[in-house]
Amino acid sequence: MHDVVQNYYGKELQSTDDLKTSACCDISNMPEWLKPLLANIHDEVLSRYYGCGLVCPALLEGCRILDLGSGSGRDVYALAQLVGESGHVVGVDMTDEQLAVAKQHQAYHVENFGYDNVTFLHGYIEKLDELDLEANSFDIIVSNCVINLSPDKASVMASVQRLLKPGGEFYFSDVYADRRIPQHLIDDPVLYGECLSGALYWKDFNRLSRDAGFLDVRLVEDRPLEITDPALAAKIGDIQFFSATYRLFKIASLEDACEDHGQAVIYKGTIEQSPHRFDLDKHHAIEAGRVLPVCGNTFRMLQESRFAPHFEFIGDDSRHYGIFAGCGELMPFNQPMTLASGAGGCC
Ligand SMILES: C[S@@+](CC[C@H](N)C(=O)[O-])C[C@H]1O[C@@H](n2cnc3c(N)ncnc32)[C@H](O)[C@@H]1O
Repeated sequence: MHDVVQNYYGKELQSTDDLKTSACCDISNMPEWLKPLLANIHDEVLSRYYGCGLVCPALLEGCRILDLGSGSGRDVYALAQLVGESGHVVGVDMTDEQLAVAKQHQAYHVENFGYDNVTFLHGYIEKLDELDLEANSFDIIVSNCVINLSPDKASVMASVQRLLKPGGEFYFSDVYADRRIPQHLIDDPVLYGECLSGALYWKDFNRLSRDAGFLDVRLVEDRPLEITDPALAAKIGDIQFFSATYRLFKIASLEDACEDHGQAVIYKGTIEQSPHRFDLDKHHAIEAGRVLPVCGNTFRMLQESRFAPHFEFIGDDSRHYGIFAGCGELMPFNQPMTLASGAGGCC
């Protein structure tokens, strides 16, 4: 599969316009604050962008970031500006032509940004142990429309777990399917290269994450993909595809379900660009100043990550009140009517 993908991204595609579906490209929801950063990036880098989402979480200054499948380097150069001079961004890609574009314009960006804080490495994301990357050394690992192309997704997830610092996160956009893809579609080089037929069934992604030690995956945003090319649509049939951004925290104490310990958080409103509301994930838009009851896992994600200084934390996990109400999992037993309504809140 590596050959097929290298050929597709190194030789078949010359620019974003050559893509045959909308799967690998989404500029429609570009936030305003990102536009000036992209304006600082070289045109050739931008023209060979094949990502499917946005991999710029909040609060990046000073962070060390690894980009898996960095391509021509658009996200690396955007993140380089967000981490600033005291941070560093490492991009890894296996396709020479893409890597050449990224490296060719490194001096241009050093000149533009006023500092040199990026490194590009040739490598396979299934074999990150062959690169000289230290365990527990990255605050954040990102990836944009790449994991679906990997023939060994389990080893990628294991390396991510190894390379992240405790409290760090894997924040990445990719393509998912509503079911497992049959082998004859996986074997189709165009469907595979277009980031469709290598996509994971979303539930298998949850299982893979859990096996790699990420017990609570958080969906940040998602959108359905349209297969506009009639020939590709005919091959795909009824399979539905989605582009989705997830965040997976490396926190050893996370549980495999949202448990209620009677805890709550208050967002201080102190993250620049988010003075009114902090979006942890699709289900947690946390308003500044409001006391928000949360499950134990959300509490830990905020308390044991770089977000901790921006929150007040109420309670601890010394008491347990059962499963957290409203988090997608219910106690299976019938309950007396008087106890049936939970405390509510947001897991
Ligand atoms: C869809 S493009 C996305 C590129 C980049 N993230 C972007 O947003 O423009 C996929 C990229 O992942 C790289 N890639 C795919 N599989 C890989 C693997 N197993 N190891 C390293 N790079 C890989 C390809 O070479 C290609 O540059």
